[in-house]
Amino acid sequence: MTPANDFSVWMQSIQARTETALDHRLPAKTIVPTRLHDAMRYATLGGGKRVRPLLAHAAGSVFNAPAEALDTVASAVEMIHVYSLVHDDLPCMDDDVLRRGKPTVHIEFDEATAMLVGDALQALAFQVLATPSLVSDSQRQVSMLALLGQASGSRGMAGGQAVDLDSVGQQITLEALEFMHIHKTGALIRAAVLLGAHCGNADTTELSKLAHYANRVGLLFQVVDDILDTEADTATLGKTAGKDEAQNKPTYVSLLGLSRAKALATELRDEAHAALVDFGDRAQRLHQLTDFIVARSF
Ligand code: IPE
Ligand code: IPE
Ligand code: MG
Ligand code: MG
Ligand code: MG
Repeated sequence: MTPANDFSVWMQSIQARTETALDHRLPAKTIVPTRLHDAMRYATLGGGKRVRPLLAHAAGSVFNAPAEALDTVASAVEMIHVYSLVHDDLPCMDDDVLRRGKPTVHIEFDEATAMLVGDALQALAFQVLATPSLVSDSQRQVSMLALLGQASGSRGMAGGQAVDLDSVGQQITLEALEFMHIHKTGALIRAAVLLGAHCGNADTTELSKLAHYANRVGLLFQVVDDILDTEADTATLGKTAGKDEAQNKPTYVSLLGLSRAKALATELRDEAHAALVDFGDRAQRLHQLTDFIVARSF
């Protein structure tokens, strides 16, 4: 099998097991309150690239981490991510009607339900990460819970979203844009990588090398998201194209122009690969995922 085929088989297998892992961890829609549970499942299942679960599994593969533990951390991070998307699409934020090729949660259900879906997914993510004996050292598991808390909150994703909303229509500096992207998107990507590595009992030095890798990939991911917003079409993206310009959002494309934004993506990709050098072949999946994040079409 060529390396490209091998990667795509691996990716599909992680996406499939992530779907099952999420399905098992979400309450059934027959459980009261049925409408909320239905909406949580609608938001979470049957869509998305599952990049954060893929990163958790890829980081875990560096240390031969057990697949079941990786499913658990991947589910927790994906739940936070889905919650962030459901809230991001609300009329008070980006006001989007399409997500993952389907009507957004507040369109399919209603706004109050969309808020509660986010609230409930966030809480469930921490409950899932608190699964007894997830890793052999319970002190390590406490650190993992703190890591996800930091990545999700006002010093992470939610903080980045606050800066995003404050920046609408503003001329911001490149430094401020980087701060925004590193927080709104980079923080959860970093958490996915580090939680995967924790499942394989990575030591402090290894974690700090992976954190450096994840910082580059987190920024890279949002730079590519900005590029796709201007270059791809709605059908391919599964979300409304051209929204950033329409809503006057500062992005890497609006600040640098398309060709410099693409050059930056290439630079970040190279830095990400370089950050993995000490792991040798063990980081093969992380290398492949990094290239996928740049080359993706949606
Ligand atoms: C979209 O994330 C929002 C950002 C943080 C850029 P993804 O591009 O990972 O969305 P899904 O999960 O594949 O739908
Ligand atoms: C999303 O950024 C970041 C989070 C959801 C935390 P965007 O607003 O650019 O994401 P899309 O383009 O709607 O997916
Ligand atoms: Mg947004
Ligand atoms: Mg948005
Ligand atoms: Mg976007």
